Amino acid sequence: MRLAVLSDTHGNAIAFEAVIQDLKSQSPDAIVFLGDIVMRGPQPSECIHMVRSLEPLAVIRGNYDDMFTRFPAPGWVPSNDKEELVLRAYEYDCKRIAHDDQEWLANLPVERAWTFEDVPTEMYHAGPDSLVNVVYPWASLDEMDILNRSEHTRLVLFGHVHHAYARQGKGRLIVNCGSVGLPFDGDNRASYAIVDFNKRDIAVQLRRVAYDIEKALATAKALKMPDVEAYEYALRLARYPYNDYKKLIQTASS
Ligand SMILES: [Fe+2]
Repeated sequence: MRLAVLSDTHGNAIAFEAVIQDLKSQSPDAIVFLGDIVMRGPQPSECIHMVRSLEPLAVIRGNYDDMFTRFPAPGWVPSNDKEELVLRAYEYDCKRIAHDDQEWLANLPVERAWTFEDVPTEMYHAGPDSLVNVVYPWASLDEMDILNRSEHTRLVLFGHVHHAYARQGKGRLIVNCGSVGLPFDGDNRASYAIVDFNKRDIAVQLRRVAYDIEKALATAKALKMPDVEAYEYALRLARYPYNDYKKLIQTASS
């Protein structure tokens, strides 16, 4: 059985289209989507419709899907540059995502367990007990060991960190499929994973798909997406831009 694992489109429908084209060459039997469909990219609504049209076996809610549907809390005001940026992204997505799609996002589950052939598998956005905890490719074995609930689990699939990797943990394989729309691992191609199951055997491909970054940036500019300078930095360099946001803008304009 062949499974495609996708995550973190973050509103980048141009990258998502390229991945869907590549998926056709791989002919998966099933698809799972591990969250963060929306926020921080120009076409969140299009990405929701693309996910739904793939009819995934499972769709999991990411921290940005969650934030979008439950944000801001009453009385909340941004207290730093990064929070102001998130608020602008939220306001942009609010104008672009229809109410029934917002409801669909809000009701996505935060975890799924499934047995693929003879392989008990757990699927998360970030991990079992958090939508935001980060387990990077360089995490220790003990840090990776928080990613499963059951000792019987032999495979964990997750997204969130935007770094694609596959590592053997303590008794199970850990696979992060990376990000379709906003990779932060230094490779600016869209990322997803193909997992082949044969009874208890597992084979993983971490696939990278080149896409038209200029078209994605032109779309963001045409749609007047806020903070497009930080977005351009992230798409071109595949690096997390939002901590040094103010510095980044000054550098870009100097
Ligand atoms: Fe994400």
